[in-house]
Amino acid sequence: MGKSWVMNTSLLFFILFLQTLKHVHASYKCYGDFFTGNYGINRDNLLSTLPSNVVNNGGFYNASLGRNNRIHVVALCIRGYEAQACKTCLEHVIDDTKSNCPHQKETFSWVTEEANDVLCNLHYTNHSTFGKLELLPFTINPNSKVLESYKNMTLFSQEWTAMVNRTLEAASTADTSSVLKYYSATRTEFTEIPDVYAMMQCTPDLSPSDCNRCLRECVNEFQRQYWGRLGGGVGRPSCYFRWDLFKFYKAFDNVTKVLAPPRQCSPPALDCGRDEKHFEGRHIAIIVVPAIINLIIFVGLICSWKRKTSDTGIKESYNPYDGQSMLRFDFVMLRTATHDFSPETKLGEGGFGSVYKGVLPNGQEIAVKRLTKGSGQGDMEFRNEVLLLTRLQHRNLVKLLGFCNEGDEEILVYEFVPNSSLDHFIFDEHKRCLLTWDVRYRIIEGVARGLLYLHEDSQLRIIHRDLKASNILLDAEMKPKVADFGMARLFNMDQTRGQTSRVVGTYGYMAPEYATYGQFSAKSDVYSFGIMLLEMISGRRNKNLKEEEGEEEEEQEGLLDFVWKKWSEGKYAEMIDPLAAPSTNISVDQVMKLIHIGLLCVQEDVFKRPTISSVLIWLESHAATTMPVPTPVTFLTAPSSPSSSLHG
Ligand SMILES: *[C@@H]1O[C@H](CO)[C@@H](O)[C@H](O)[C@H]1NC(C)=O
Ligand SMILES: *[C@@H]1O[C@H](CO)[C@@H](O)[C@H](O)[C@H]1NC(C)=O
Ligand SMILES: *[C@@H]1O[C@H](CO)[C@@H](O)[C@H](O)[C@H]1NC(C)=O
Ligand SMILES: *[C@@H]1O[C@H](CO)[C@@H](O)[C@H](O)[C@H]1NC(C)=O
Ligand SMILES: *[C@@H]1O[C@H](CO)[C@@H](O)[C@H](O)[C@H]1NC(C)=O
Repeated sequence: MGKSWVMNTSLLFFILFLQTLKHVHASYKCYGDFFTGNYGINRDNLLSTLPSNVVNNGGFYNASLGRNNRIHVVALCIRGYEAQACKTCLEHVIDDTKSNCPHQKETFSWVTEEANDVLCNLHYTNHSTFGKLELLPFTINPNSKVLESYKNMTLFSQEWTAMVNRTLEAASTADTSSVLKYYSATRTEFTEIPDVYAMMQCTPDLSPSDCNRCLRECVNEFQRQYWGRLGGGVGRPSCYFRWDLFKFYKAFDNVTKVLAPPRQCSPPALDCGRDEKHFEGRHIAIIVVPAIINLIIFVGLICSWKRKTSDTGIKESYNPYDGQSMLRFDFVMLRTATHDFSPETKLGEGGFGSVYKGVLPNGQEIAVKRLTKGSGQGDMEFRNEVLLLTRLQHRNLVKLLGFCNEGDEEILVYEFVPNSSLDHFIFDEHKRCLLTWDVRYRIIEGVARGLLYLHEDSQLRIIHRDLKASNILLDAEMKPKVADFGMARLFNMDQTRGQTSRVVGTYGYMAPEYATYGQFSAKSDVYSFGIMLLEMISGRRNKNLKEEEGEEEEEQEGLLDFVWKKWSEGKYAEMIDPLAAPSTNISVDQVMKLIHIGLLCVQEDVFKRPTISSVLIWLESHAATTMPVPTPVTFLTAPSSPSSSLHG
C-alpha cells in the first residue's frame, strides 16, 4: 500500500494553500509513508503540549516521543512573537496539519498569521532532524501580482538581488543573544518601489553555513520559478524566505531595518540658482523617474467582506432615506484590527482624532479614525452624515468605508493609503528627491481635482477647512488623495459659506479672514491650497507662527515673504526646491505657472483669489494663459485668541 502512495507524488507532495483565509500565508507539505502502530498516538501526545513548550523555551523547541514508532518534532515562532500569538499560531497549524495530513509520517509548514503578527513553523518526522540541514521537500507560494512596469528590469534585478543578499547575510550570521538565532527582516527602498520587505529564518539547530545554503536555495528557487512575481514565499523544513510589498508582520518594528544605501538623488541637473537667463531659456533637464507602480496588495475587497458579514463583524446597515446600504463596523473587530488601538499601529493625529492602521480579518488594510470628542450628534444623525460622506467618491479623495458608533465611541473607517502623507515627502530631504517636477505637478493637479469635486461637483459642496500637506495622502502610484474632508459637517458646523466661532484648521494654512474672523468659503480652501502648492515648489515648510514665537526664531523668514521676495526680484531659480529632480515632461514655464498660481491663491483679498476651477483650467492648459498679476503677499500675524490648531 505504501508503495502506491510513494509513487503518487501529487498526493505525497500535497500543498495546501489556505485560500479561504487570505491573511494567513501558509505552506504545508505532507510526505512520507502512512504511519502505522502508535505513531499517531505519539504524535498527538507530543503536539498537545507543543505550543506551550515552544513559548516556554524561548520560541524554539524540539522533542521526540515513542519507542518503536518514534516521532521527532521541531517547532518555532518568529523572533519578537507574543506568547499568546505564538500559541495560537501553533494551535492552528497543528489542527490544520492533523486534518490535512491525517496519516502521513512527515510534514512541515511555515505559516504567517498577519492578524496576530506571527510566523510559526512545525516540522515532524519519523527520524531525528535536529541539527541536520533538511532541504526537501519545499513549498513555494508566489503572489499572483506580476511586475508589469519597472522601467529598467536590469536595475530591478540588481536591487532585488542586493536586497536578498543583505537579508541572507544578516540571517545566516548567528545572533547568539537569541534562541532564534537566524533571523533577519529588512525593508528596502527600490528605485520605483518605496518599500520592499524581506524576511528570512532558519531553524536555530543549523550551522551558519547550512542556514546560508538553505536560504540561498529558497532564493534561487523563487528566481527559477517565479521571477517577475511581486512577492512570495519559499519554505523548506530548515528555513523560510518571504518577501512582499507590505510589512507582513509587526516583528519588523523590532529588527534593524536594512535600508538601501541612501538613494542617489540626482542633483537637479539645471544650473539654476546662479544664472537666471540660463534657467529661463531652457527646459529642465531630463531625468525620468517613472511612476511608482501599484504594489500594495489589498487582500480582499469590500464586496468580499459583504459576503462574509456574519463572521467578519461588519454588518450592513440599511438607510431608510435612500435605500443604500453602508458598512457599519463592529467595535470589537476594529479593536482587534488595530491591536487595541496600540501606539504601534498609530498612523498619526488628524483633525478630531487619532488614526490607526488596522487589518481586517479578511486581510484588508484600513485606516481607523477614532474621534476624540464625540460629534455631538445623535446616533441616527451621525450615521446619516457618514452615509452622505461615503457617497463622496472621487479618485483624489480618501474613501470613507464606514463607521462604528457604540457607546461613547465614534469611529470612521477609511481605505488605507500606503505612501503616507505628502508632508513626509516634501519636508524630508531624503524623500523629497522622489518628487520630480512631474510628480509634483501631478500631485498639485490631483489635489485641485479633489478640491473641485468637494467644492462644486459633489452633491454636498464641502469646504474642507483644513487642507494641508499632512492631509494629502499618496497612494502606491504617488497619486494624491485628500483626507479628512467633511469633518465640519460631521460636527454640525457645515454651511458652505459662512462665519463660525469654531475655527478648525492649522495656522500657516489658514486664510487670514478665516483665522481672524472665522469667515470661511471655498476661497479659504483655495488659500490653503496655495500654501501647500508653494511648499511643494520651494520645499520649505510654512512655519507655524506660534511655534516660531515660542522658539523665539522671529528672524526666520516666512514662506510667503520668501516667495514674494524672490518673485518680485525675478530670482525664480532661488525659490524652487534644489532637490526637485527635473523631469522631461515639465518645462520651466510650467514651474513658473505653478508659482504664479500659488501666489494668486494666497492673495489676502478673497476676491483676488481664483476659484479652484480656474486653477485647474490654468494647470491643464498647455498654451500660454493669461493670469492676473499677483499683488504682494505676506504672512499675516495670527490672532492672539485661538491656539495654533484647534481641531482634534
Ligand atoms: C521513516 O519513514 C520512511 C518511509 O516514509 C522510511 O523509509 C524510513 O526508513 C523511516 N525512518 C525511520 C528512522 O524509521
Ligand atoms: C533536542 O534535540 C537534541 C539533539 O537530538 C537533544 O539533545 C535535546 O534533548 C532535544 N530537546 C528536547 C527537549 O527533547
Ligand atoms: C520588541 O519591542 C518591544 C517594544 O519595543 C520590546 O518590549 C520587546 O522586548 C521587543 N522584542 C524583541 C524580541 O526584541
Ligand atoms: C538600467 O540599469 C542599469 C543598472 O543600474 C544601468 O547600467 C543601465 O544603464 C540602465 N539601462 C537603462 C536603459 O537605463
Ligand atoms: C548576491 O550573492 C550572490 C551569491 O553569493 C552573488 O553571486 C551575487 O553577485 C550577489 N549579488 C549582489 C548584487 O550582491
